[in-house]
Amino acid sequence: MKPSAATARAGANIALVKYWGKRDPVLNLPAAGSLSLTLDQLETTTTVVPDETLSADTLALNGQAADVSRVSAVLDRFRRQSGHAVFCRVESNNNFPTGAGLASSASAFAALVAAADSAFATRLDDRALSEQARLGSGSAARSIFGGFVEMAVGTRPDGSDAVARPLLSAEAWPLEVVVAVVDEASKAVSSTKGMNQTQATSPYYPAWLGQVPEDLQAARSAIAARDFEALARVGEGSALAMHASALAARPGLIYWRPATLALIDAVRDLQSAGVAAFFTIDAGPQVKVVCLPEAGQRVAAALSAIDGVQRLIHCRLGPGVRVLG
Ligand code: DP6
Repeated sequence: MKPSAATARAGANIALVKYWGKRDPVLNLPAAGSLSLTLDQLETTTTVVPDETLSADTLALNGQAADVSRVSAVLDRFRRQSGHAVFCRVESNNNFPTGAGLASSASAFAALVAAADSAFATRLDDRALSEQARLGSGSAARSIFGGFVEMAVGTRPDGSDAVARPLLSAEAWPLEVVVAVVDEASKAVSSTKGMNQTQATSPYYPAWLGQVPEDLQAARSAIAARDFEALARVGEGSALAMHASALAARPGLIYWRPATLALIDAVRDLQSAGVAAFFTIDAGPQVKVVCLPEAGQRVAAALSAIDGVQRLIHCRLGPGVRVLG
């Protein structure tokens, strides 16, 4: 079948047990497993248009020409697998700020592989899509699935078992996530660079890595038991340990802004008042606050009162990647 245009949409995901470091940079294999929530509001929609008249792939990201190399590497595998050597025009649109610590690469590569799979009619199953997405960006492997998702570290040298799997559907435990956007500008150090620098230079990196299996176990148990307090403990602990390892890199990586700390304080105040909420922070200054649905409004009100918060994005848990046509 001749390749034809296809569009797919994927939600960003927020890791509760973080991915921070690689064991193989070529296959983009993670140094440890991770665990995340897929969100319904932060979405990327990507269209892949195979075009015989092109002499190279092109990428438009939110309407602007962008570096196509990581996208081309993904498309190359679909070209090889399908036997169709046609270049593609790729159009990708985020409904949220790109590159500001809101996991744009996760939704982007998940949407890209699903669109490419449909365009090239390669008919990969979700596990194979997750592997392909991982090759683009580690966290993208998780955005293939909805709800609660675990990414396996894997043991095979070819990376075929370093894939994500769904743990629990979004409906089974409908948590909410309020994202407090502190700075919409792109971050100074990308997660890829930040984790490589941490791994190569931080004296605390081995301690970080050693803690992940225990955190994964604790998070899995908390999710199975719908134990919000236990999930809060492991979620905040994993985020702070990741940032502690990054802070100790040389030179140190400081992703936070004053408003980031003010938000952490606000979450602690909410917790003291008995509100079921906890924070997590990725490679940027934004703070994501996970809460029970009944706490959503109170959390949003408290966060919006903090100086330096530019806007809030109130998310529910969302579905996995889907092809739109
Ligand atoms: C802090 O998936 O962006 O968000 O595999 O190099 O593309 P690459 O890294 P990426 O890293 C995400 C790091 C994180 C934590 C997480 O999402 O688990």
